[in-house]
Amino acid sequence: MPRRAKTIVAPDRRRLLNAGVALGLGAVAAGLPALARAALMPTARQTEGPFYPRHKPADTDNDLARIAGAPGQAAGQIIHVTGEVLAPDGRPIPGARVEIWHADAKGRYHHRGDWSLFRERDGGFQGFGAAMTDDRGRYAFRTIKPPPYGSRTPHIHFKVFAPGIPTLTTQMYFAGEPRNARDGILHAVRNPAARAGLIVPFAPAPTLEQGALQGHFRIVLAQEQRSGA
Ligand SMILES: [Fe+2]
Repeated sequence: MPRRAKTIVAPDRRRLLNAGVALGLGAVAAGLPALARAALMPTARQTEGPFYPRHKPADTDNDLARIAGAPGQAAGQIIHVTGEVLAPDGRPIPGARVEIWHADAKGRYHHRGDWSLFRERDGGFQGFGAAMTDDRGRYAFRTIKPPPYGSRTPHIHFKVFAPGIPTLTTQMYFAGEPRNARDGILHAVRNPAARAGLIVPFAPAPTLEQGALQGHFRIVLAQEQRSGA
């Protein structure tokens, strides 16, 4: 059973993260209306990739742009990724653990297996973070927008653990990225609607944080998913 992520976000930033949840999730604040509960398309599965951390960093909170006890913050465009975890009938799933990991502003994963030796690692980036969904299924992260690397368009890896539901592993993408059109892993999702569900528009959110962008990624867990994928 995954353990609860330690929340060590400073009070002002915790408030920002909570505000981000409210900003992005008003429409589903109490779950979806009954009429809309017919069947949400489950979020498409994606490969885990080679860089899920073998050893978690000391700080695994939901602000990846700042490491507890370290000065400064990560290089790159600050983004807030907010969303909710739902069942296919639209019911929110509280108590789910949402994990993300992605490359730093230089395109390097904080993983021993990333041999990007020509790209210096950003020591201000946490590399991995976790959040628990609240009673409305909501989660929020503050991080940076990862750049493209190799053949990959920018993406954030997600793993979602929910009690009694098999784990979902997937990746989230950024709308408007030219490389989305030819990213082989993204297009491994053949169903256009399912693929579109992984691509998130980001927009300025000055009331949340000056200069930051915010995107909303809804995750729908299929009850029949098999674990381990
Ligand atoms: Fe990746």
